[in-house]
Amino acid sequence: MVPNHVGIIMDGNGRWAKQRGLKRSMGHKAGAKNLRGLTKHIFDKGVKVISLYAFSTENFKRDKEEVDYLMNLLVEYFNTERKNFVKGKTKVVFSGSRNNLRKDVLDAMDATSKDTEMFDERIINICFNYGGRLEIVDTTKKIVKQVLDGKLKIEDITEEVFDDNLYQKLPPVDLVIRTSGEQRISNFLLWQASYAEYYFPKVLFPDFDEKEFDLALEEYENRNRRFGG
Ligand code: FPP
Repeated sequence: MVPNHVGIIMDGNGRWAKQRGLKRSMGHKAGAKNLRGLTKHIFDKGVKVISLYAFSTENFKRDKEEVDYLMNLLVEYFNTERKNFVKGKTKVVFSGSRNNLRKDVLDAMDATSKDTEMFDERIINICFNYGGRLEIVDTTKKIVKQVLDGKLKIEDITEEVFDDNLYQKLPPVDLVIRTSGEQRISNFLLWQASYAEYYFPKVLFPDFDEKEFDLALEEYENRNRRFGG
């Protein structure tokens, strides 16, 4: 079975650039360039939701130059790609904290969500200024507020209620791919990926192409064949 929801931790952009004697930012640029063909291919395989880890809350600790580059890249990327998402009937949602983000970044995100909100067959979830623990804390705050407002009883808090109050209402993650050989989850979709399969290819993200995704899919399908009920 093809996974319904695939999460990708797009790691190794910096090393990709270093190997070529380029600045780290050129790795991020190459990573962003890789996304269009890759996401199209993944959807064409039958996947419905793709979550991309584009910027973690911890990434703010990087040099200002790199942080600024990633912010500018988001603005440029979504302002140029927005029309292509509409053409491809792809809904784009963003998960993460809005705190500490510039107005032009928030505007690019909001315009993209708004222009694509009517679609539901193909969904891209961009995790930006995202942390899984922070999402769990933010969700808890939302639920506590409902209890304090008398809208929800403590005994009615269930996993489903928690699901309904996450940043986005999405199906669980079936497969998480982290490129570049690192084997860590790094605070990515902790709640949603509790039962996911994990796949760690050595290839750096800008080189993670259609062929590489097919290998991930093959591995996922083999694991399901062995352990599926
Ligand atoms: C991790 O690689 C990657 C990131 C922190 C950024 C990922 C962003 C993109 C792929 C660009 C797409 C983004 C948008 C906004 C559309 P790294 O820098 O940690 O690489 P390294 O481990 O080799 O140093």
